[in-house]
Amino acid sequence: MKKIGVLTSGGDAPGMNAAVRAVTRAALAKGMSVLGIKRGYVGLLNREYVEMTARSVSGIIQRGGTCLYTARCPEFATMEGVLKGKAACEELGLEGLVVIGGDGSFRGAGDLSGAGIPCVGIPGTIDNDIQCTEYTIGYDTAMNTCVDMIDKLRDTMQSHNRCSVVEVMGRRAGYMAVNVALAVGAEACLTLEREYDLEAIAAKMTATAQSKDGKHHFIIVVAEGVGQTEAIARQIQEMTGIEARATILGHVQRGGSPTLRDRVLATEMGYHAVELLEKGIGNRIVGLKDGQVYDIDLKEGLAMKKPFLDRRYDIFYDTAY
Ligand code: ADP
Ligand code: F6P
Repeated sequence: MKKIGVLTSGGDAPGMNAAVRAVTRAALAKGMSVLGIKRGYVGLLNREYVEMTARSVSGIIQRGGTCLYTARCPEFATMEGVLKGKAACEELGLEGLVVIGGDGSFRGAGDLSGAGIPCVGIPGTIDNDIQCTEYTIGYDTAMNTCVDMIDKLRDTMQSHNRCSVVEVMGRRAGYMAVNVALAVGAEACLTLEREYDLEAIAAKMTATAQSKDGKHHFIIVVAEGVGQTEAIARQIQEMTGIEARATILGHVQRGGSPTLRDRVLATEMGYHAVELLEKGIGNRIVGLKDGQVYDIDLKEGLAMKKPFLDRRYDIFYDTAY
């Protein structure tokens, strides 16, 4: 291939810039030219792009967000939208496309590959909920942001003998919640993947708060998908008599400078994606398997089922008190 495109799509994630930089530099080094498509599939349909150079990606490896911007594009989820995307690629002379995003973005990439434009997906989402990869870019940074903020909450909860009920992102996935709960030494963690019993959680809190050398401040981590964080805080307060405060960490989790892990994996994955397109191979997802960067057929990868962190969840609860 002589000319490829790169875009970021769906929710942004820290480390997307590092991936864009790697794709650009790797492609230029292999003699290809690169167009940066702005605002995901929206920009592709509208022909919003910028010619990428080695210098245009200077100074972005350490930046959160995405220099290409991102968007959600409902039109691309229709066959008509995909065919418009194909026509745009042909008009721009793009022989292949790197799509950095989550599973929704990958479905679009699969459809575009099916229509004749080879696409390679790089997993970029803080949720780490893509079936075929052990890791998605942004996960580590987002979890470290949560830990940082919940450690701060812990200070004030301790001063006031309160309970913090804190919601972390993950509309459909509780992977972040479990890791974060374990890392901040929380007392409970509520996710969609595992059943929980609020009364039992409250009873344990009450028992320890009443014992002489027990705990007097608490952290309960709630995955976004569970929702009702304010109501859970109210219920906990009613059931225990311990003052509870709800905090929704929100979009701050999606920003900030990527960690070393996110920068390194984004770079390796970006490089791998370009190697595939260089060989004319599309319709693939780049991922991490047994700690190694690999690639898998797009549809096959999306059809896989991701297991939950059951053992980690159990270890968390067994070491929480
Ligand atoms: P993410 O990629 O993070 O999962 P979304 O689910 O919002 O984020 O998807 C991003 C974009 O990918 C959508 O706005 C749409 O353009 C495209 N997309 C999502 N689902 C599909 C689908 N089933 N088929 C084709 N394109 C899709
Ligand atoms: O998929 C990433 C994510 O941050 C989820 O954790 C969260 O539920 C969702 O995106 C929020 O999306 P939006 O930025 O559109 O509110």
